[in-house]
Amino acid sequence: MTTRREFLGQGAAAIAGLTAPTLARAGTPRFAELKARPARVQLAPPTYPQTEIWGYDGAMPGPELRLTQGARVQRSFLNELPQASSIHWHGIRIDNAMDGVPGLTQAAVAPGQGFDYDFVAPDAGTYWYHAHNRSTEQVARGLYGALIVEEPEAPDIDREEVLILDDWLLDPETAQIDPDFTSRHDRSHAGRRGNFVVTNGRFDLSLDVAQNERLRLRLINAANARIFVLSLAGMDGWTVALDGMPLRDPDPVGEVLILGPGQRADLIVDVTAASGETAHLVHIENQESFSQVAFAVSGSKAAARRAPPRPLPPNPRMDVSGLESAVTARLHMQGGAMGRLDSAILDGERKSFRQLVDANQFWAFNGTIGMTDTPLVSVSEGETIKLEITNDTSFPHAMHLHGMHFREVTRDAGLGPFRDTLLMFGGETRTIAFVADNPGKWLFHCHMLSHADSGMMTWLKVT
Ligand code: C2O
Ligand code: CU
Repeated sequence: MTTRREFLGQGAAAIAGLTAPTLARAGTPRFAELKARPARVQLAPPTYPQTEIWGYDGAMPGPELRLTQGARVQRSFLNELPQASSIHWHGIRIDNAMDGVPGLTQAAVAPGQGFDYDFVAPDAGTYWYHAHNRSTEQVARGLYGALIVEEPEAPDIDREEVLILDDWLLDPETAQIDPDFTSRHDRSHAGRRGNFVVTNGRFDLSLDVAQNERLRLRLINAANARIFVLSLAGMDGWTVALDGMPLRDPDPVGEVLILGPGQRADLIVDVTAASGETAHLVHIENQESFSQVAFAVSGSKAAARRAPPRPLPPNPRMDVSGLESAVTARLHMQGGAMGRLDSAILDGERKSFRQLVDANQFWAFNGTIGMTDTPLVSVSEGETIKLEITNDTSFPHAMHLHGMHFREVTRDAGLGPFRDTLLMFGGETRTIAFVADNPGKWLFHCHMLSHADSGMMTWLKVT
């Protein structure tokens, strides 16, 4: 016999079970919505027409998501693009099911459909989110934004600025985005590089500051392929975090700071220029200097500079131990223009370089192009992985690991900063190591997005 109480209980469970997914698909979002859709923005100077972009909530960059360490990000993604899409939360040590990689952690979200992202952000730091389906096109069209996880106790600064650096490839007459996202030249050379460099969507970003003001600059390189070489003028500063993770000691910004695609740097800077002068975040290219961001100085915040900054509080689980008993693997990066790749495996068959060119595929990891059924490395949770990477190509590559951070094992057997993206120049061999403490299937790929599209993509499995 079923009591009334049991019956009601079952009824409620059945209704919840049936209606929850239906409601989500019918467009009643569980969480605040994040909508990817086409929009128009004034990217080029005002004498040019507006540029048609794709943006989250129609904005470029997308809305800044900001939370405190340990809090949840809960967003119902809605796809109003003409293509399937997904969102990747770059740098977050995330629950694998929320990592946003079509074909590996979820299905691509079809136009008109949605996906509920719900995860904890365990680490404070500067992260970002971006589209991860047909990324070369979707990121180049503007689908990215900042994801800022604040320390429970704010560092001693006067203010902070999030600065997202990007370059756009625009038609010089119409200011519209160059629609050739599969260019053979871009794929086989340095990737899709823009002709129009911006910060937060503005080519002339200028901020008002005062002398002796202390700022935290959160720099994010969202470009498809451009390596930003930066320096400070009229400001003096320290790097306090890389790829979101605090450095043990603040590191004075020397002559240049190099930021590869996908990488972030948190700087604490003091404005040293006097009232009436302009300080700059300088972008150096071909030995020429450009103002990436101008800081117009007026008045002064304090009579003197402060003492050097203290380090940011460390995040949990930043140690890389167990190197002696690590599972070791190698990654041989090959291909590209001026490379030495004679043939490689594509879709299970050996192809000559000529055939690969016809297939618009140019890069191989360990002789194979693109994703494979078996992972590059498979380990159990908690094991340490040591990966020796050789860049046997003529181009730099920015290797990004999903779901976990790593440290570089330096020549003197020391360990470098805890990062998620490693910029490697041609001819280099470098070793990274990390504790595989996050179960799931994790992508490892070049963040020069045209390179990822034309072969530079593999994955790791943690069980
Ligand atoms: Cu920021 Cu797999 O990407
Ligand atoms: Cu690359």
